[in-house]
Amino acid sequence: MSGPIQDDVFAAGEGDRWYERNRDALGHDDWPLRLIERNALHPESVLEIGCANGWRLAAIAESGAPRLVGVDVSSAAISAGVSQTLDLSVGRADRLPIEEEFFDLVIVNYVFHWIDRSTILAAISETDRCVAPDGYLIVGDFLPDRPTKVPYHHLPDDSVFTFKTDYAAAFTALSTYEVIDREIYNHDDPSAEPTSENRGVCTLLRKTLSGLYR
Ligand SMILES: C[S@@+](CC[C@H](N)C(=O)[O-])C[C@H]1O[C@@H](n2cnc3c(N)ncnc32)[C@H](O)[C@@H]1O
Repeated sequence: MSGPIQDDVFAAGEGDRWYERNRDALGHDDWPLRLIERNALHPESVLEIGCANGWRLAAIAESGAPRLVGVDVSSAAISAGVSQTLDLSVGRADRLPIEEEFFDLVIVNYVFHWIDRSTILAAISETDRCVAPDGYLIVGDFLPDRPTKVPYHHLPDDSVFTFKTDYAAAFTALSTYEVIDREIYNHDDPSAEPTSENRGVCTLLRKTLSGLYR
C-alpha cells in the first residue's frame, strides 16, 4: 500500500478547511433534528461522530439531554466548540476516543462518504459499538442510484474521493437494526425533486440485537 489513506488527509488539514469554509452555513435545514422531533425522541445521552463544532448537539442540549458527546477529525472545529456543556474531542470515526460507553442516540451525518474504503467497516463497527442495545442511530448521507465515487474537487491532486452509497443498509443488512423513519430530499435544493446526483437521505434506525430474527 502506498501513501496516506484519505482519513489522514482529512485529519491533516482538510477537515479544518471544510470547517472554515462551512461554519457559517452549519445548521441550515437539518433533517437529523427533524427526525428526532418527528419521532418524539428524548435521549438521555447522545454521541455525534463528525460533529464539527457541536452545533447540532447544542441544539439537542436545549431539550435537556444531560450527556452530549462529539468527535470530529478537525481540531479547528472542536476547539471552536459552541458550548461548554458539550464533551467534544478530536478523533477519527474508525477509532473513536470513547471507552466502554453506550449512547441512547448516535448521529453520523454526511461523514461516512469521506471515510477511506480501507477503514469504512471499522467506522461502522465503532458506530455500532457506541449505540446502546435498544438505542437509536441516525445516519444521513447522499443516496445515488448506485454506489458512486466522486473526485473531491477541493483536493484535485490528492486522489481523494467521496463515496456515496446507502450507509443505513450497512446497519440493516444483519438485521440488528430496523428502520424507524426515513426522509429523502434534494441536498442542493430542498424545493426540487431529487436526482441521483443530489439525493440525500436521513434514516432513523433502532438497534435490536436479535429481535428481528425469527
Ligand atoms: C460534511 S461535514 C458534516 C458535519 C456535520 N456532521 C453536519 O452534519 O453538519 C463532515 C464532518 O466529518 C468530519 N470528518 C471527516 N472524516 C472524519 C473521520 N474519519 N472521523 C471523524 N470525523 C470526520 C469532518 O471534519 C466534518 O466536520
